[in-house]
Amino acid sequence: MPAAIECVLLRPGREAALARFFTDLAAAGDDAYFHPHAGDVATLRVIAEQAGLDLYVVFVEGEAVRAYGLLRGWNEGYAIPSLGIAVHPDARACGLGSLMMEYLETMARHRGAPAIRLRVHQDNARAIAMYKRRGYALTPENDGARLLVGVKPLGDVA
Ligand SMILES: CC(C)(COP(=O)(O)OP(=O)(O)OC[C@H]1O[C@@H](n2cnc3c(N)ncnc32)[C@H](O)[C@@H]1OP(=O)(O)O)[C@@H](O)C(=O)NCCC(=O)NCCS
Repeated sequence: MPAAIECVLLRPGREAALARFFTDLAAAGDDAYFHPHAGDVATLRVIAEQAGLDLYVVFVEGEAVRAYGLLRGWNEGYAIPSLGIAVHPDARACGLGSLMMEYLETMARHRGAPAIRLRVHQDNARAIAMYKRRGYALTPENDGARLLVGVKPLGDVA
Protein backbone atom coordinates (compact mmCIF):
# COMPACT_ATOMS: atom_id res chain seq x y z
CA MET A 1 0.00 0.00 0.00
CA PRO A 2 1.51 3.41 -0.95
CA ALA A 3 1.96 6.06 1.73
CA ALA A 4 -0.69 8.75 2.12
CA ILE A 5 -0.15 11.98 0.23
CA GLU A 6 0.55 15.01 2.40
CA CYS A 7 0.41 18.70 1.47
CA VAL A 8 3.45 20.54 2.86
CA LEU A 9 5.31 23.76 2.22
CA LEU A 10 8.64 23.60 0.40
CA ARG A 11 11.06 23.74 3.32
CA PRO A 12 14.83 23.20 3.57
CA GLY A 13 15.43 19.45 3.32
CA ARG A 14 12.96 18.88 0.48
CA GLU A 15 15.11 20.37 -2.32
CA ALA A 16 16.55 17.06 -3.53
CA ALA A 17 13.13 15.42 -3.82
CA LEU A 18 11.76 18.42 -5.73
CA ALA A 19 14.83 18.50 -7.98
CA ARG A 20 14.09 14.85 -8.89
CA PHE A 21 10.51 15.88 -9.68
CA PHE A 22 11.84 18.57 -12.06
CA THR A 23 14.15 16.00 -13.69
CA ASP A 24 11.20 13.65 -14.24
CA LEU A 25 9.12 16.48 -15.74
CA ALA A 26 11.95 17.30 -18.14
CA ALA A 27 12.30 13.62 -19.12
CA ALA A 28 8.59 13.63 -19.99
CA GLY A 29 9.01 16.80 -22.07
CA ASP A 30 6.88 18.89 -19.72
CA ASP A 31 9.56 21.49 -19.12
CA ALA A 32 8.29 23.08 -22.34
CA TYR A 33 5.08 23.90 -20.45
CA PHE A 34 6.26 24.29 -16.87
CA HIS A 35 9.40 26.27 -16.11
CA PRO A 36 8.61 28.73 -13.30
CA HIS A 37 12.28 28.75 -12.21
CA ALA A 38 15.29 26.48 -12.44
CA GLY A 39 14.81 23.05 -10.87
CA ASP A 40 18.32 22.42 -9.50
CA VAL A 41 18.97 21.81 -5.81
CA ALA A 42 20.76 25.14 -5.26
CA THR A 43 17.91 27.19 -6.74
CA LEU A 44 15.33 25.22 -4.80
CA ARG A 45 17.28 25.75 -1.57
CA VAL A 46 17.15 29.51 -2.05
CA ILE A 47 13.39 29.32 -2.57
CA ALA A 48 12.92 26.99 0.41
CA GLU A 49 14.87 29.33 2.69
CA GLN A 50 13.31 32.61 1.58
CA ALA A 51 10.96 34.46 3.88
CA GLY A 52 7.80 36.19 2.74
CA LEU A 53 4.25 35.53 1.66
CA ASP A 54 4.86 33.66 -1.60
CA LEU A 55 3.72 30.03 -1.33
CA TYR A 56 5.61 27.00 -2.62
CA VAL A 57 3.74 23.78 -1.90
CA VAL A 58 4.46 20.11 -2.52
CA PHE A 59 2.28 17.04 -2.32
CA VAL A 60 4.57 14.32 -0.99
CA GLU A 61 4.07 10.57 -0.88
CA GLY A 62 6.77 9.34 1.46
CA GLU A 63 9.89 11.02 0.08
CA ALA A 64 8.55 11.43 -3.46
CA VAL A 65 7.06 14.69 -4.72
CA ARG A 66 3.81 14.00 -6.56
CA ALA A 67 2.79 17.59 -7.31
CA TYR A 68 4.20 21.09 -6.99
CA GLY A 69 2.30 24.35 -6.84
CA LEU A 70 3.22 27.95 -6.31
CA LEU A 71 1.61 31.30 -5.79
CA ARG A 72 4.02 34.17 -6.10
CA GLY A 73 4.08 37.90 -6.61
CA TRP A 74 3.12 38.90 -3.09
CA ASN A 75 6.78 39.26 -2.10
CA GLU A 76 7.17 41.82 -4.89
CA GLY A 77 4.12 43.73 -3.75
CA TYR A 78 1.54 42.54 -6.26
CA ALA A 79 -2.03 42.11 -4.99
CA ILE A 80 -2.81 39.41 -7.55
CA PRO A 81 -0.54 36.35 -7.25
CA SER A 82 0.63 34.25 -10.20
CA LEU A 83 -0.09 30.53 -10.04
CA GLY A 84 2.00 27.62 -11.28
CA ILE A 85 1.25 23.92 -11.04
CA ALA A 86 2.66 20.56 -12.15
CA VAL A 87 1.79 16.96 -11.33
CA HIS A 88 4.30 14.13 -11.63
CA PRO A 89 3.90 12.25 -14.95
CA ASP A 90 3.15 9.02 -13.02
CA ALA A 91 0.44 10.59 -10.89
CA ARG A 92 -1.81 12.37 -13.39
CA ALA A 93 -5.48 12.16 -14.20
CA CYS A 94 -6.50 11.12 -10.70
CA GLY A 95 -7.38 14.54 -9.33
CA LEU A 96 -4.10 15.80 -7.85
CA GLY A 97 -3.99 18.75 -10.26
CA SER A 98 -7.49 19.78 -9.28
CA LEU A 99 -6.66 19.32 -5.59
CA MET A 100 -3.59 21.54 -5.91
CA MET A 101 -5.62 24.18 -7.77
CA GLU A 102 -8.25 24.09 -5.04
CA TYR A 103 -5.59 24.50 -2.34
CA LEU A 104 -3.87 27.41 -4.08
CA GLU A 105 -7.13 29.19 -4.88
CA THR A 106 -8.30 28.73 -1.30
CA MET A 107 -5.05 30.16 0.04
CA ALA A 108 -5.28 33.16 -2.29
CA ARG A 109 -8.88 33.79 -1.19
CA HIS A 110 -7.85 33.33 2.46
CA ARG A 111 -5.17 35.99 1.96
CA GLY A 112 -7.71 38.39 0.45
CA ALA A 113 -6.36 38.32 -3.11
CA PRO A 114 -8.94 39.75 -5.54
CA ALA A 115 -7.94 37.35 -8.32
CA ILE A 116 -5.35 34.82 -9.50
CA ARG A 117 -3.29 35.13 -12.65
CA LEU A 118 -1.49 32.45 -14.68
CA ARG A 119 0.14 31.90 -18.06
CA VAL A 120 -0.32 28.78 -20.17
CA HIS A 121 1.06 27.67 -23.52
CA GLN A 122 -1.65 27.54 -26.17
CA ASP A 123 -0.71 23.92 -27.02
CA ASN A 124 -1.13 22.75 -23.43
CA ALA A 125 -4.60 21.28 -23.90
CA ARG A 126 -4.83 19.48 -20.54
CA ALA A 127 -3.95 22.53 -18.53
CA ILE A 128 -6.20 24.78 -20.63
CA ALA A 129 -9.14 22.39 -20.13
CA MET A 130 -8.53 22.40 -16.39
CA TYR A 131 -8.23 26.18 -16.14
CA LYS A 132 -11.36 26.79 -18.23
CA ARG A 133 -13.33 24.36 -16.14
CA ARG A 134 -12.19 26.21 -13.03
CA GLY A 135 -13.35 29.57 -14.34
CA TYR A 136 -10.20 31.18 -15.72
CA ALA A 137 -10.75 33.61 -18.60
CA LEU A 138 -7.92 33.02 -21.08
CA THR A 139 -6.71 35.65 -23.55
CA PRO A 140 -3.59 35.82 -25.75
CA GLU A 141 -0.71 37.51 -23.96
CA ASN A 142 -0.09 39.69 -27.01
CA ASP A 143 -0.38 39.56 -30.80
CA GLY A 144 1.03 36.31 -32.17
CA ALA A 145 1.86 35.05 -28.69
CA ARG A 146 2.08 31.34 -27.94
CA LEU A 147 1.05 32.08 -24.39
CA LEU A 148 -2.38 32.73 -22.95
CA VAL A 149 -2.94 34.75 -19.80
CA GLY A 150 -5.59 33.41 -17.45
CA VAL A 151 -7.36 35.40 -14.77
CA LYS A 152 -9.88 34.15 -12.25
CA PRO A 153 -11.62 36.64 -9.95
CA LEU A 154 -11.92 35.38 -6.38
CA GLY A 155 -15.21 36.90 -5.35
CA ASP A 156 -17.36 35.89 -2.43
CA VAL A 157 -18.34 32.25 -2.69
CA ALA A 158 -21.45 32.77 -0.56
C1 LIG B 1 -2.13 20.00 -16.23
C2 LIG B 1 -1.83 19.05 -15.07
C3 LIG B 1 -1.38 19.86 -13.87
C4 LIG B 1 -3.14 18.31 -14.71
O1 LIG B 1 -2.85 17.51 -13.57
P1 LIG B 1 -3.74 16.19 -13.25
O2 LIG B 1 -3.42 15.75 -11.87
O3 LIG B 1 -3.56 15.21 -14.34
O4 LIG B 1 -5.21 16.81 -13.30
P2 LIG B 1 -6.55 16.18 -12.70
O5 LIG B 1 -6.49 14.70 -12.66
O6 LIG B 1 -6.89 16.88 -11.43
O7 LIG B 1 -7.56 16.63 -13.81
C5 LIG B 1 -7.94 18.01 -13.88
C6 LIG B 1 -8.36 18.37 -15.26
O8 LIG B 1 -7.23 18.32 -16.13
C7 LIG B 1 -7.64 17.93 -17.42
N1 LIG B 1 -7.04 16.63 -17.71
C8 LIG B 1 -6.39 15.81 -16.85
N2 LIG B 1 -5.94 14.72 -17.50
C9 LIG B 1 -6.32 14.86 -18.77
C10 LIG B 1 -6.14 14.06 -19.94
N3 LIG B 1 -5.49 12.89 -19.89
N4 LIG B 1 -6.62 14.52 -21.11
C11 LIG B 1 -7.27 15.68 -21.16
N5 LIG B 1 -7.49 16.49 -20.09
C12 LIG B 1 -7.01 16.07 -18.92
C13 LIG B 1 -9.16 17.80 -17.35
O9 LIG B 1 -9.75 19.06 -17.62
C14 LIG B 1 -9.38 17.45 -15.91
O10 LIG B 1 -10.67 17.74 -15.49
P3 LIG B 1 -11.72 16.51 -15.25
O11 LIG B 1 -11.06 15.58 -14.27
O12 LIG B 1 -12.92 17.20 -14.67
O13 LIG B 1 -11.92 15.89 -16.59
C15 LIG B 1 -0.78 17.97 -15.46
O14 LIG B 1 -1.15 17.40 -16.70
C16 LIG B 1 0.64 18.49 -15.57
O15 LIG B 1 1.35 18.58 -14.58
N6 LIG B 1 1.09 18.84 -16.78
C17 LIG B 1 2.49 19.27 -17.00
C18 LIG B 1 2.82 20.60 -16.35
C19 LIG B 1 1.87 21.67 -16.84
O16 LIG B 1 1.49 21.72 -18.00
N7 LIG B 1 1.51 22.57 -15.92
C20 LIG B 1 0.64 23.70 -16.23
C21 LIG B 1 1.49 24.82 -16.74
S1 LIG B 1 0.49 26.23 -17.19
